[in-house]
Amino acid sequence: FRSHPVHLRHECPDLTSLKELPDSYDWTHQHYVIPATNGDSAISESIPVIDLNDPNALQLIGHACKTWGAFQVINHGIPTSLLDQAECTTRHLFSLPVEQKLKASRLPDALTGYGLSRSNSFFSKIMWSEVFTIIGSPLDHFRHLWPEDYTKHWGGRGPIAPPGFQNLIKNEVMEEYEKEMTKSAEKLMWLMLGSLNITKEDIEWADPKGNIPDEFAVLHMNYYPACPNPDRAMGMAAHSDSTILTILHQNNTAGLQVLKKGTGWVAVPTNPGGLVVIVGDLLQILSNGSYISALHRAVVNRDKPRFSLPYFYGPPARAQVSPLPKLVGPSDPPLYRPITWSEFLGIKAKHFNNALSSIRICT
Ligand code: SIN
Ligand code: FE2
Repeated sequence: FRSHPVHLRHECPDLTSLKELPDSYDWTHQHYVIPATNGDSAISESIPVIDLNDPNALQLIGHACKTWGAFQVINHGIPTSLLDQAECTTRHLFSLPVEQKLKASRLPDALTGYGLSRSNSFFSKIMWSEVFTIIGSPLDHFRHLWPEDYTKHWGGRGPIAPPGFQNLIKNEVMEEYEKEMTKSAEKLMWLMLGSLNITKEDIEWADPKGNIPDEFAVLHMNYYPACPNPDRAMGMAAHSDSTILTILHQNNTAGLQVLKKGTGWVAVPTNPGGLVVIVGDLLQILSNGSYISALHRAVVNRDKPRFSLPYFYGPPARAQVSPLPKLVGPSDPPLYRPITWSEFLGIKAKHFNNALSSIRICT
């Protein structure tokens, strides 16, 4: 893969105001990254919807991870009101003036902040999306958006922030969202592993109670503005997540698609209160290839803005991840070499969707 530098300040026009798709956002001839869609509307199947209260949830989750690498969960325990509020906060954030958002720009070598998706560096065209990346406390990151006002505590001598921003930093919705996501991710990880008969004793970086000290997580707030030429644009290009698992909340505008082997790109319908769970590369490694990290992408549409909130969940950055001994045997040799998440992220940053094959053990 060739890396293209992305110069945010020059390349981040206010997409919301564009009436025409600029050439730099036109993916028409990028067929190498847009596998044929084989007519989305003709495909009626989609990722399974699993009710966590269903007595068969464990088996259903295992089956979904093996066949799709993704599923939706309902009855997950996170109140719909919190999901709605998080969505509303996301809308406030992205409706701030571009100059304001740029104050929180992600610096060239930093992971967090506002900007274009980092994976833009793998492509010659730019994705039709804006991303705010958060590690740790969301409020800590929001204060960069309106630094004068934040430090003067409203009504000081600085410019008065618009109500949208005041809502953003006065409420603690995203803090709560982050906490709930961490709890859910842990729970889902044990269910996904449990379906393979893996228990907390099998995971070196879990404590005896099954808690994960120092787990590492990243939250993205994604904005896909309505697009004048959705058929030629790409919201988020096809990729797999480097996580153990990702939990994604999307607003009531569909756009996420999952690639199913033998079928093609399959749209994930919106499901109020439901959450999408995506198997990440590290879970594919842990499960010795039994679970698949799904390739997925986001398309855009002409009429409505779309927001998504993926929560990327992984082990402590320096913990060793390798095919779990219980899943390896004479007839199932380990498919991947041991690796830490931080090392894997480095490989992903270089090899992108070929990262997993680059750590595969040749047999
Ligand atoms: C992502 O994969 O990071 C985002 C996908 C989406 O917006 O649905
Ligand atoms: Fe993703």
